[in-house]
Amino acid sequence: MTSSLDAAAAEQEAAKRNLWLHFTRMGSYEDSDIPVIVRGSGAYVYDQHGRRYLDGLSGLFVSQVGHGRQEIAEAGARQAGELAYFPLWSYAHPKAIELAQRLADLAPGDLNRVFFTTSGSEAVESAWKLAKQYFKLTGQPERYKVISREIAYHGTSMGALAITGLADIKYPFEPMTPGGVRVPNTNFYRAPAFVRDDLEEFGIWAADEIERAILREGPKSVAAVFLEPVQNSGGCFPPPPGYFQRVREICDRYGVLLVSDEVICAFGRLGYYFGSQRYGYQPDIITFAKGVTSGYAPLGGMLVRDALMEPFTSGTATFLHGITFAGHPVSTAVALANLDVFEKENLLENVRANEAAFRATLEKLSDLPIVGEVRGAGYFYGIELVKDKATRETFDDDESERLLRGFLSQALFDAGLVCRADDRGDPVIQLAPPLICSQEHFDEIEAILRGVLTEAWTRI
Ligand SMILES: Cc1ncc(COP(=O)(O)O)c(C=O)c1O
Repeated sequence: MTSSLDAAAAEQEAAKRNLWLHFTRMGSYEDSDIPVIVRGSGAYVYDQHGRRYLDGLSGLFVSQVGHGRQEIAEAGARQAGELAYFPLWSYAHPKAIELAQRLADLAPGDLNRVFFTTSGSEAVESAWKLAKQYFKLTGQPERYKVISREIAYHGTSMGALAITGLADIKYPFEPMTPGGVRVPNTNFYRAPAFVRDDLEEFGIWAADEIERAILREGPKSVAAVFLEPVQNSGGCFPPPPGYFQRVREICDRYGVLLVSDEVICAFGRLGYYFGSQRYGYQPDIITFAKGVTSGYAPLGGMLVRDALMEPFTSGTATFLHGITFAGHPVSTAVALANLDVFEKENLLENVRANEAAFRATLEKLSDLPIVGEVRGAGYFYGIELVKDKATRETFDDDESERLLRGFLSQALFDAGLVCRADDRGDPVIQLAPPLICSQEHFDEIEAILRGVLTEAWTRI
């Protein structure tokens, strides 16, 4: 008879032999076990040894309603029993229709048309393809370029990667799809000296950099600007006041589409269904994924303004794009059940009521010498780590490697917290707990971070 110890060892061996983890140095598991997460309940997940972890990142900015919700699982199972699959190519199914209508009702302005995908990358890819084909159909075929911000992550498929502003994850796949243009992000902590003292002035400068890029590239060649409401990569850069209003004006001036990439920022992450609602701007397209199902099944999509659909509504015009599993019946049924939970439990209100407490709890960490800045909004925060608080000096590559990869990631996990130690920009710890979290969870996060960051400082 196989003992449970033997079974666990066999599982480890199979994980190491057959499974390929994403964005992961597989070599780092040569002498250690791959963590295996076996179940979740509320804000916590449990590993193969029964150890509990506070899910401070909602998996990967996904599990808005928390883990173990039977009513959502059952909605998926019911749908699989009734109609497990049928494509959205020339056919509709009831749950896709119902979800499209519900999302159109929740979305700002005239974003009434939903094109489903299975992921965020596909949503971004679809938005770029739509922008290109829309302009071809409306007599502006030379518009194909896309503007996005430095260090911003917009996905991994070749189009989305060309929009992404992270050189290191693009380099192995060069040459890139042509047309990606970069502008500065809204990292006020590291703003250029001439706008360092005034947040609003900084925001106007950063927005005007988009106009300068449009002019440099040739206004008639630019199709769209892709921006997250709060930029994730680099560690949660909120928009300065007035930034998005200015960007909207610039896009209108040059006939460029504004795409709000809300793969992370929608579905309550910032206390609203959509991040653009929090900051009061009207996008032409919203891309979404992750929180729309809270991860109970994969789903993404884009919400599109009526006007962008218009050229596709008559004659032989067809958006020549599609994905087999997009708008999957099980995923759309799950998304509807997920949104029911949002409503029943007032999750947006929970985030809005508690976000100040979350911030205040994280800001307690500012007394540590390694904490440079705590920034973010809603239930979405980054903590920038620095070598010298006064000068804001950051860690060099070796220190970053030792600190983040060599110590912090593992130490935080060992201490019972799932979060992200990320150095794609300057080193940050990122937090995005489920929207059901309250003060007790914030305190637990703070206590674990305090212990591990204090230890980290002694190792520099
Ligand atoms: C802003 C943004 N866009 C796109 C993506 C890509 O989404 P996916 O991993 O579902 O393809 C992500 C993923 O984290 C994201 O944060």
